[in-house]
Amino acid sequence: MSWREWIRTVEVEPSLYAADFARLGEQIDMLLRAECRIFHFDVGDGHFVEPITIGPVVLQSIAPLVHRAGGVLDCHLMVDNPLRHFPQIARAGGDSVTFHYEVVDDVPATIAAAREHGLQVGVAFNPESEPEDVAAVAADADLVLCMSIHPGYSGQTFMPEAVERIKRLRTALPEHVYVQVDGGIDHETVGRAYVAGARLLVAGSAIFGREDVTRAYRRLLQDLP
Ligand code: DX5
Ligand code: ZN
Repeated sequence: MSWREWIRTVEVEPSLYAADFARLGEQIDMLLRAECRIFHFDVGDGHFVEPITIGPVVLQSIAPLVHRAGGVLDCHLMVDNPLRHFPQIARAGGDSVTFHYEVVDDVPATIAAAREHGLQVGVAFNPESEPEDVAAVAADADLVLCMSIHPGYSGQTFMPEAVERIKRLRTALPEHVYVQVDGGIDHETVGRAYVAGARLLVAGSAIFGREDVTRAYRRLLQDLP
């Protein structure tokens, strides 16, 4: 299975980093019932980003629940040494890995290394990196992730300049590579990111910060143009 088969026309991806971890399985189950099939899983190493977030141990616990329903786990590696983590992520049931452009010397070789573990691959970049520079080395990836915040925490505000950066990225990338956006996606920004060219829209607090997560997920889909 690949992104091409996972994606319908556009996907809102709940970022599990913002979930209530005492009720993680229950919240995933609710979203699966709302027909969500792609979940975003943020691994932070306490070095590339300040916080230590979640990792393979948690991934392993939830993977059977997600996979049983035909869903996939999209792992965003906010870590300094992504290569080192690919085998563990694959073993724990991750379906794709997205590593950061800023920490890798040879992007095409790192993409190839992830594929050797049977993983789909994304390349993420921070607000300081130029979309064209990333696009120039990411043609073999399945997706490129344009960060619309500085990575690290859920609940930050969408940086308005991300809209232009998504457009530049969409123009610079081959058509078969998806554009993903992550950070501050809510009922207002989801449409702007979509119009700019993003088809994978990650949302943490806009879903899990609400009383009714299912409703919040559906609302975001409805807020798309
Ligand atoms: C943080 C993570 C995001 C985060 C998004 O750097 O990469 O995926 O959970 O959360 P929101 O949607 O609340 O900005
Ligand atoms: Zn993320």
